[in-house]
Amino acid sequence: MNLLWFPFLSLLLSAAGAPYNLTKTFNVKHYGAVSDGKSDSAKAFQKAWDDACGWEGLKPKVLIPEGRFLVGSLVFQGPCKGRKVVVQVKGYVVSQADLNAYKTHDWISFRYINGLLVTGKGTFDGQGAYAWPHNNCRSNKKCRPLPWSLNFSFVSNATIRGITSINSKNVHIQIFASKDMNFQYLKLIAPGNSPNTDGIHVGQSENIVIEHSIISTGDDCISIGPATKNLSISQVWCGPGHGISIGSLGGGKDEGDVVGVNVKNCTFTGTTNGVRIKTWQESPSSSSAYKLTFEDLVMRNVDNPIIIDQKYCPHNLCSNKAPSLVKISKVKFRKIRGVTRTKNAINLVCSDKFPCEEIELSDIDLKYSVAGDVAIASCVNVKGRSFGSINPPSCI
Ligand SMILES: *[C@@H]1O[C@H](CO)[C@@H](O)[C@H](O)[C@H]1NC(C)=O
Ligand SMILES: *[C@@H]1O[C@H](CO)[C@@H](O)[C@H](O)[C@H]1NC(C)=O
Ligand SMILES: *[C@@H]1O[C@H](CO)[C@@H](O)[C@H](O)[C@H]1NC(C)=O
Ligand SMILES: *[C@@H]1O[C@H](CO)[C@@H](O)[C@H](O)[C@H]1NC(C)=O
Repeated sequence: MNLLWFPFLSLLLSAAGAPYNLTKTFNVKHYGAVSDGKSDSAKAFQKAWDDACGWEGLKPKVLIPEGRFLVGSLVFQGPCKGRKVVVQVKGYVVSQADLNAYKTHDWISFRYINGLLVTGKGTFDGQGAYAWPHNNCRSNKKCRPLPWSLNFSFVSNATIRGITSINSKNVHIQIFASKDMNFQYLKLIAPGNSPNTDGIHVGQSENIVIEHSIISTGDDCISIGPATKNLSISQVWCGPGHGISIGSLGGGKDEGDVVGVNVKNCTFTGTTNGVRIKTWQESPSSSSAYKLTFEDLVMRNVDNPIIIDQKYCPHNLCSNKAPSLVKISKVKFRKIRGVTRTKNAINLVCSDKFPCEEIELSDIDLKYSVAGDVAIASCVNVKGRSFGSINPPSCI
């Protein structure tokens, strides 16, 4: 709607005597939230959301003002009555350290909302340091997964802008079954050695944009799961972390394809991978990943800057025998430059059963960090072409 239309609409509505407002603010403090960082304000936050969501005007706004608010589990659920719910975060929101305070697998869940803006310079602090020692799901099958910080599921038409998430207990941001969402100017921060603190995990979602963000964390800066379509990532500063990763794919049955991922104009610093596609060695059924473009990337002292790993099998979770059934094709690696910390700068290991097809390498310049030695490229089961100058020399 354009700006001229707004005053006209409100004039029209007030002339008609309708009790119709364009915006209304629902301040969590007016619902009893206490900014002392000690009293749990979850009930107040919840009530402010519920009222905002049920308000019939155009743009209800939940305001989290300056101050330190302790809150446990929250579910911000729609559908809402207004055109767009705004959550303005000015304050510092701290999660409960006590894991018994969480009934679900997330801390703050936004779900079933069409039209959402989460904005402000505020922070969500997951207090991960208390939880990370309890991250034992690798060794304990009955473990309780630690809560993820912000979970957007079944959300559409949304912008998430400017907020900071620090020390998530598990993944910072989950995007699940959502579409038409824009994530920008975010800061997602946790120590490089914190477990499973991926910056953003996207799955089963489409038309998602992630841009202008800083992600420094202990796992993937961005990980991309099955059935993701039309995802664009640009101007992301990643590091420390495990890079930007498509996968692991092929772990589940009948996973949807990953189609149309664009990673552009990003910088990786000291990460354990740059751009990676990984699929499980064994897959219960087949799927595809195609139309994936990685371009204009800078690698600063990065391990494995360009990697496809179709023999992914950590912690002996598979028998290591069957080939991956994920078909990878139409992948472009273009204009990628910088310094690799591993000798193998380009490492493309594709499936014995489904070789990678239409793989393009063009204008690559990756220097090995070890003086007097040079980087190499290696390919297994790769079909494709190289263009421009490729350093280390192309293996395609
Ligand atoms: C995110 O929310 C959806 C429900 O809307 C739920 O199924 C999923 O388990 C949640 N994810 C996490 C990690 O909590
Ligand atoms: C998204 O919002 C715009 C304007 O607020 C609206 O016209 C459009 O229908 C919405 N899209 C969906 C999928 O609801
Ligand atoms: C892909 O997503 C972008 C951003 O949401 C959108 O503008 C574009 O129309 C989408 N493309 C397709 C083919 O849906
Ligand atoms: C990203 O784009 C900006 C603006 O176009 C440019 O100044 C910057 O050098 C680019 N960064 C990378 C890593 O290509």
